[in-house]
Amino acid sequence: MDTQAGGPNRVGVEIIGSATHLPEGKLTNQDLEKLMTTSDEWITKRTGIHTRRRADMANGEKTTDLATGAMGKALKNAGVDPKELDLLLVATMTPDSPTPSVGCVVARDLGCNQIGAMDINAACSGYVYTISIADALIRSGMYKTIGVIGADTVTRHLDYSDYGRGAAILFGDGAAAMVLRASEDASKGMIAHRMHADGEGAKQLFIPSCKHDFVEQELFDERKLDKVQMNGQAVFKFAVSKFQEVIADTLEDAGIGADEVDHYICHQANSRILDSARERFGIPAEKLLVNIDRLGNTVGASVPLVFDELVQAGKIKPGQKVMFLAFGAGLTWGSSLWQL
Ligand code: COA
Repeated sequence: MDTQAGGPNRVGVEIIGSATHLPEGKLTNQDLEKLMTTSDEWITKRTGIHTRRRADMANGEKTTDLATGAMGKALKNAGVDPKELDLLLVATMTPDSPTPSVGCVVARDLGCNQIGAMDINAACSGYVYTISIADALIRSGMYKTIGVIGADTVTRHLDYSDYGRGAAILFGDGAAAMVLRASEDASKGMIAHRMHADGEGAKQLFIPSCKHDFVEQELFDERKLDKVQMNGQAVFKFAVSKFQEVIADTLEDAGIGADEVDHYICHQANSRILDSARERFGIPAEKLLVNIDRLGNTVGASVPLVFDELVQAGKIKPGQKVMFLAFGAGLTWGSSLWQL
């Protein structure tokens, strides 16, 4: 079969199923008020977040559990047997441990064949990077059915005291997944994408593992090790500017106007960042779902969680154009514009 882009037998890519898997545990702004000096009003005004989910680490709930739950349900929704998957990709920055990868454990637990399975770490941009890669692998003819998961349990890297409150209020845990499959309709799948990284901003948002990770040694403190360190204002400015830039660039690459996109499926980091993009491009609220109020920033899970929520609400329809968008640590940012 000739699968070269532009060739006579071009293949497309279809999203044939999706699902969500969230931990039961909740952490509300009122819960946080008891742990640190903060207020529901402060958090709501600055971020739009009211509550978030938190994996029960003490009882062994980990990223692999959430990822397996999400992929298992996505396969069921797609009517696909785990043995039909021929590649499994996981966007995560919080594997249970450095090795094995989350992908290997999920493939084992779902009873997949001995397929390729791996994790891709681009922090909050991970899912957007990964579905672009998956699209390319299917279009090339290498694989037919790929499972793509976004799963993170970042709350274990947060300090729920006054010392870590700047970052601790923002994040939650979760997972969501999609099943992608080759389609005979070559118009389906990714039509434009952007992947960007700028390591110059590495220390604006990072998780230090030793004192040498601090450029300025006077900033080192034992309490910071293994906990998210963030320059909130710098990240905010980066996110607002790159988010708008990447939308403009992707629309230009695809040769379409902002109004031709049916859904902007955006990483949920801060409702003010999302509002800035909506205002700049005149995007109506119903085209940009915000669920950060209920879930916080779930890192690699955030984008597929929004997609699956739209699917469950019956708002995703064949023929629509959807733009997946994210930015995050690295610093990284990117887009993936799809024709459904
Ligand atoms: N509760 C109450 N007060 C807090 C607080 C909290 N959880 N965290 C910080 N503060 C205080 C600060 O200590 C500071 O007090 P000071 O003026 O007495 O020094 C004050 O609030 C303002 O802090 P600042 O960091 O300037 O707040 P901000 O308006 O920038 O809002 C963020 C902080 C984190 C909400 C905001 O910067 C942000 O959303 N940044 C982007 C982060 C992001 O999206 N990260 C993920 C990217 S994927």
